[in-house]
Amino acid sequence: MGKTVCSHKIVILGDMGVGKTCLSIRYSYGKFSSTHEATIGGCFLTKDEELDDHVVKYEIWDTAGQERYHSLAQMYYKNAIAACVVFDVTNRESFEKCQQWVSELHEKALPEILITIVGNKIDLDGHQVTREEAEGYCKKLNLQYYEVSAKQNIGVDKVFREIAKRLPAES
Ligand code: GTP
Ligand code: MG
Repeated sequence: MGKTVCSHKIVILGDMGVGKTCLSIRYSYGKFSSTHEATIGGCFLTKDEELDDHVVKYEIWDTAGQERYHSLAQMYYKNAIAACVVFDVTNRESFEKCQQWVSELHEKALPEILITIVGNKIDLDGHQVTREEAEGYCKKLNLQYYEVSAKQNIGVDKVFREIAKRLPAES
């Protein structure tokens, strides 16, 4: 008998240029592109995450970070069971922006939404947010924190795998 399949909607939020699209594409397709094309509105990807006893069929909504699209984000996080809020570890402002996203999700998203914070671009020098600071922030709010590099494929699969394990095994 095959494994149970659970469909889950996950939304990727965060400031412009932090690497939301690169992270989503890295996870879904295993690829990376260094040319930056700002996402317009939002973009949809899928990926199956096979766990021991069931399969999580992710519907990944990669949102646009540009401020002018902010109001659209609600449409994407509405009904999402999980959210990855991404910042760029070399850009402090993007860390502060991710705190705004967390507040907004707490106010307007599903109460049971599983929020995960992701610090991207750890392959670069000149970090403006340390792991300790980000972990401290997440600990206070009881959120998971992961550091990744979409470019060098560090930690990306782990983020989605850990989220998949924490989601309800039904959809
Ligand atoms: P918007 O769609 O405008 O909100 O941006 P985004 O968050 O989707 O950013 P995107 O994935 O397009 O990446 C922005 C830029 O950062 C691109 O030039 C990427 O190549 C670069 N980038 C993304 N991830 C990494 C990473 O892990 N390391 C490095 N060095 N660069 C990265
Ligand atoms: Mg994008």
